[in-house]
Amino acid sequence: MNLRPAHRKLWLVLHIVSAGAWIGIDVLVAVLAGTGLLADDPGTRSLAYRALGTFVVCPMLSSGLVCLGTGVLLGLGTRWGLIRYWWVAVKLGINVLLCTLIIVLLRPGMPAVRAYGETMPPTAFDTSSLVMPPIVSLTLLSLATVLSVYKPWGRTRRGAAQVARQATARSAVRTP
Ligand code: HEM
Repeated sequence: MNLRPAHRKLWLVLHIVSAGAWIGIDVLVAVLAGTGLLADDPGTRSLAYRALGTFVVCPMLSSGLVCLGTGVLLGLGTRWGLIRYWWVAVKLGINVLLCTLIIVLLRPGMPAVRAYGETMPPTAFDTSSLVMPPIVSLTLLSLATVLSVYKPWGRTRRGAAQVARQATARSAVRTP
């Protein structure tokens, strides 16, 4: 599959916008988790947990899946491939890992966060467990952004083997 330049640009815009939205939502999660943990006013803490438990997961998962879908499309539709270059393969791993963590770990815990925000002291809840998710996610998404811009590490073994195969095929066509 080879994307036409105009289509590639359109998918790339969607890819970058979804990645940016995902990072923005992660920053919001960090702000809400930090407010819930550190604010003096119980009303503010309650509001932070209720917002965290109610609004965050759906837009976060949506932007993660759009980023994954457009990334896969760009990989398949351009010379980059999916596992031809290390920078794309690592980003694929990061994106799949983070979306899986959202579905398996973050989403099931959100009703308890909201309930804690609504009742506050009577319900027991380990609020410090909400600090790690945005830290891990922001670190990995920043790494993915750096990889996208610098495109380091060259080809994977599979990518190099593909180039060698193409070179052999080309020289076979040239020699009568
Ligand atoms: C993990 C989250 C991701 C982030 C934050 C991210 C970010 C970005 C950014 C900022 C660019 C633009 C780079 C530039 O034009 O110089 C880009 C391009 C690209 N991304 Fe991602 N990406 C992510 C996931 C993925 C995934 C999962 C794939 C595919 C498996 C992928 C494949 C690509 C490809 C092939 C391009 C280059 C497209 C082109 O220039 O034709 N990305 N990405």
